Amino acid sequence: MARIIVVYYSRTGNTEKMAKEVAKGAMEEGLETIVKSVEETNPEELKEYDGIIVGSPTYFGAPAWEIKKLFDDSVKYYGSLIGKIGGAFTSSANIAGGNETTILSILQMMLIHGMIVQGTTESGHYGPAAIGSPDEEVLKECKYLGKRVADLVKKMKGEK
Ligand SMILES: Cc1cc2nc3c(=O)[nH]c(=O)nc-3n(C[C@H](O)[C@H](O)[C@H](O)COP(=O)(O)O)c2cc1C
Repeated sequence: MARIIVVYYSRTGNTEKMAKEVAKGAMEEGLETIVKSVEETNPEELKEYDGIIVGSPTYFGAPAWEIKKLFDDSVKYYGSLIGKIGGAFTSSANIAGGNETTILSILQMMLIHGMIVQGTTESGHYGPAAIGSPDEEVLKECKYLGKRVADLVKKMKGEK
């Protein structure tokens, strides 16, 4: 069965809340889904998943260094993530506080790995962005991100 991992970094819990909701969306599509903090994620295990969704707080308009390090360390497995489905999300303090650049930075790293990224016509085009703690609307966007990554994984694996 196809599998999804949601990896996040969170210092004060906002991105972690989002990660759990993203995972719920993927689980509701019937896929085995795990949520892990970046500190407990080994870059090698990324190879084992068909969908990889990454969340980070916005720090200076970019992902936290812990997330960048995961990608930097994953160069050892360069070529192994080709064709996997990716997605990203963030929490920032401010509207236009660099949240979209944070999401796009994560998506860029995924694209350099040869991964596939799908946007949405709904709000959160690049991925969900919460201002502080995610409100109901953003939680919905998070769930929808998990759902659409799972949906695409199933299509790619011929399970749908
Ligand atoms: C080092 C640092 C840099 C930050 N840089 C930004 C920023 O550029 N823009 C912004 O809107 N918020 C910024 N913030 C605020 C965090 O993105 C925000 O508090 C976020 O909700 C934290 O997520 P977390 O609860 O998952 O740790 C920064 C916070 C820290 C600690």
